[in-house]
Amino acid sequence: MICIVLLYGNRHGIRQLTTGWSDGPSFVTQCPIQTNQSYIYNFTITGQRGTLLWHAHISWLRATIHGPIIILPNLNQSYPFQKPHKEVTIILGEWFNEDPEAIISQALKTGGGPNVSDAYTINGLPGLLYNCSSKDTYKLKVKPGKTYLLRLINAALNDELFFTIANHTLTVVEGDAIYTKPFNTDKLLITPGQTTNVLLKTKPEYPNATFLIAARPYSTGQGTFDNSTTMGVLEYEHPFKKPSKNPTLIQPNFPQINDTQFVSNFTMKFRSLANDEFPANVPKTVDKRFFFTVGLGTSPCPKNTTCQGPTNSTKFAASVNNVSFTLPSVAILQAYYFGQSNGVYTTDFPVEPMVPFNYTGIAPNNTNVMNGTRTVVLPFNTSVELVMQDTSILGAESHPLHLHGFNFFVVGQGFGNFDPVKDPAKFNLVDPMERNTAGVPAGGWIAIRFLADNPGK
Ligand SMILES: *[C@@H]1O[C@H](CO)[C@@H](O)[C@H](O)[C@H]1NC(C)=O
Ligand SMILES: *[C@@H]1O[C@H](CO)[C@@H](O)[C@H](O)[C@H]1NC(C)=O
Ligand SMILES: *[C@@H]1O[C@H](CO)[C@@H](O)[C@H](O)[C@H]1NC(C)=O
Ligand SMILES: *[C@@H]1O[C@H](CO)[C@@H](O)[C@H](O)[C@H]1NC(C)=O
Ligand SMILES: *[C@@H]1O[C@H](CO)[C@@H](O)[C@H](O)[C@H]1NC(C)=O
Ligand SMILES: *[C@@H]1O[C@H](CO)[C@@H](O)[C@H](O)[C@H]1NC(C)=O
Ligand SMILES: *[C@@H]1O[C@H](CO)[C@@H](O)[C@H](O)[C@H]1NC(C)=O
Ligand SMILES: *[C@@H]1O[C@H](CO)[C@@H](O)[C@H](O)[C@H]1NC(C)=O
Ligand SMILES: *[C@@H]1O[C@H](CO)[C@@H](O)[C@H](O)[C@H]1NC(C)=O
Ligand SMILES: *[C@@H]1O[C@H](CO)[C@@H](O)[C@H](O)[C@H]1NC(C)=O
Ligand SMILES: *[C@@H]1O[C@H](CO)[C@@H](O)[C@H](O)[C@H]1NC(C)=O
Ligand SMILES: *[C@@H]1O[C@H](CO)[C@@H](O)[C@H](O)[C@H]1NC(C)=O
Repeated sequence: MICIVLLYGNRHGIRQLTTGWSDGPSFVTQCPIQTNQSYIYNFTITGQRGTLLWHAHISWLRATIHGPIIILPNLNQSYPFQKPHKEVTIILGEWFNEDPEAIISQALKTGGGPNVSDAYTINGLPGLLYNCSSKDTYKLKVKPGKTYLLRLINAALNDELFFTIANHTLTVVEGDAIYTKPFNTDKLLITPGQTTNVLLKTKPEYPNATFLIAARPYSTGQGTFDNSTTMGVLEYEHPFKKPSKNPTLIQPNFPQINDTQFVSNFTMKFRSLANDEFPANVPKTVDKRFFFTVGLGTSPCPKNTTCQGPTNSTKFAASVNNVSFTLPSVAILQAYYFGQSNGVYTTDFPVEPMVPFNYTGIAPNNTNVMNGTRTVVLPFNTSVELVMQDTSILGAESHPLHLHGFNFFVVGQGFGNFDPVKDPAKFNLVDPMERNTAGVPAGGWIAIRFLADNPGK
């Protein structure tokens, strides 16, 4: 069973309870769908509602096809907030002039950082600030005195994005298809894979201006990134008056590109409703505790070649607990199902760093990573606490992580090294946010809990 690449889709955040075959990750739950072939994903959505997304998910084909999944509440249920006048889906994306597969394969060969994208987009449109793109500007037409539900999705390949609408306040009501205690903000952060539903209350009267809707990246990394801004417009549509040809454009206001404090403050505002109708079923006891470091290291450059990692004899390599994942040539779920896992994967993934060090201090001398297809095996219904710790080995950086098959509760986060004695006392086990994607803070840690009740890989 050797499978060769092409396309497959992943429904990001759908729990796929016992339908792991329909989850999509290439070489994890299935072999990729080959060119001109098809695969029918057959699954039932139970107990979920809200905004999610789907996307191609092998290698950088993630940058290609994608779209929203909107699961409405049951017919006899209403939103736990004012019924919106209208619902609007806004997908933030990333555009590459080059074939993204060519970019990543070049980067893997040289070990350097991959070339960055050429634009960000709002519903596929880059907007006013890019060459020749002013005609390709997203326009949201609204009426005064109404409430709109915006379903925001970050489908960008790599970048966490700040999002804002000039001169308007947004009320966050949902994240990753889970209702939140509402809170107001004039700007927000959304990581790739996350969704955020917000209420936009329009001004009571027709304003004499048009307001920019904009997104641009949050970045703390040392490497290069696409530091451009995508813009759309919010236009109040008058029933009689034609829109002005040269409207006053109210400019957006962003945090600094590296404003980690804003990101931390904003992220910690998310709280579950935690009421009778929408409880926060956070595991109160823990069967297994895991500690994973997340960050960059190096791997050696093949002999007689020059690489573009931190030195010309090394490549950049991402790792968790110093293990860089090696894609198997057979899907792991398939190998397991047919009793042919021998040689496909091992069950010895280190559940804590093999060599502890000062994760956010001076980097160890040896930054080389290991590699392998190593897994952790959990008995059914294990209650898990996982702390993910950023490392500063090649620069502290925020790393959004997504868990397939489960929602998890974000019980704590902080900066510096996680302290297993002091930090758990501060965990929120009352109304922590439940989600499927969360950023490991730059130079910090995040603690999540989930119940392993979904057999699969
Ligand atoms: C896929 O189908 C198209 C149209 O039938 C054909 O031109 C192309 O060669 C096929 N590609 C492969 C790899 O089979
Ligand atoms: C999907 O699964 C259901 C239940 O397992 C089955 O009845 C149905 O035939 C399947 N549909 C397709 C298109 O495979
Ligand atoms: C923008 O907001 C400021 C402060 O809230 C307000 O004074 C100003 O009139 C607003 N401008 C427009 C065009 O709505
Ligand atoms: C609306 O704005 C335009 C341009 O800024 C200005 O010329 C015009 O006088 C304004 N109209 C009103 C009614 O404020
Ligand atoms: C990114 O772009 C913004 C706005 O154009 C600019 O102010 C800032 O200096 C740039 N930052 C970096 C790191 O390039
Ligand atoms: C963010 O970037 C600015 C300008 O490049 C720099 O002065 C500042 O120290 C940085 N802040 C953080 C928290 O890294
Ligand atoms: C973050 O929150 C702290 C404490 O509430 C506050 O002092 C600080 O100004 C906030 N910083 C940003 C960037 O929002
Ligand atoms: C390096 O590789 C080139 C071509 O790939 C070969 O011609 C050359 O002999 C090699 N040099 C060494 C020292 O192996
Ligand atoms: C690699 O870098 C070292 C030190 O900067 C330099 O001396 C050496 O020539 C470089 N090697 C290659 C093959 O570029
Ligand atoms: C880790 O390194 C940081 C930064 O150099 C330092 O402030 C901190 O005290 C170190 N922690 C320990 C436990 O050594
Ligand atoms: C790294 O190497 C230097 C000298 O080679 C040594 O003095 C230092 O203790 C080493 N640091 C660590 C963390 O092992
Ligand atoms: C993985 O590690 C082995 C040795 O431990 C090494 O031979 C191999 O080149 C590494 N593979 C990758 C893709 O880094």
